[in-house]
Amino acid sequence: MRIIRAKDYDDMSRKAANLIAAQVTMKPDCVLGLATGSTPIGTYKELIDKYNKGDLDFSEVMSVNLDEYKGLTKDNDQSYNYFMRKNLFDHINIKPDHYYLPNGMAENAEAECQRYDKLLSSLTRDMQVLGLGLNGHIGFNEPSDEFAKGTNLIKLSESTIKANSRFFEKYEDTPTSAFTMGIQSIMQARKILLLVSGKGKAQILREVIDGPIKPQVPASILQLHKDVTIIADEDALSML
Ligand code: F6R
Repeated sequence: MRIIRAKDYDDMSRKAANLIAAQVTMKPDCVLGLATGSTPIGTYKELIDKYNKGDLDFSEVMSVNLDEYKGLTKDNDQSYNYFMRKNLFDHINIKPDHYYLPNGMAENAEAECQRYDKLLSSLTRDMQVLGLGLNGHIGFNEPSDEFAKGTNLIKLSESTIKANSRFFEKYEDTPTSAFTMGIQSIMQARKILLLVSGKGKAQILREVIDGPIKPQVPASILQLHKDVTIIADEDALSML
């Protein structure tokens, strides 16, 4: 695991955007695996900035997202589909048929998981961007007794629902389940870029990097990937 130390959130975002930009420049038709949540917002802003300056072209880029809440339409302003358009896709020249997310409204969950897995096996991700959950989740693969393989519909843990509720008007509105890319699919990306910011993530980041590899800390499996870069700020690295 390569660890890049960033001064703060903005520095982490700049450094992450530089690596993603290098990937897109080196391989204009690359496949990116993208994440939502508060962590990558600054990174996406930096990418938009580079695009506006004429330094980046996303016209051949494809992207697949990690997850989507169950029960939210893609136009619900809390859905991850909406998030991606608002925070990135609407501001760059990625083609509308070049980005994919699970369909939160799929009636048949099993069929939706199979559809997403098929898609993932047809698109080898060159770079997978990840954030880190307070409980060590990646995507929405929550602590469990085994590492999930493919796409699955997951019941979110109490701590994740609580963390996500900050984006919803009422706690009761926070979705309790989500479709997520499985751990095996995440590990199949050629390169992984894990972004971590803030003191609140310091303890779990230490477990991810230094602790035993176990499904109770899902991100610990990243220790087994051959090309992982962690960009974390000083607060997040304060326990290492
Ligand atoms: C989002 C995702 C989640 C988040 C994690 C951290 O697509 O897959 O794993 O990355 O919950 O969220 P933030 O960045 O809001 O702390």
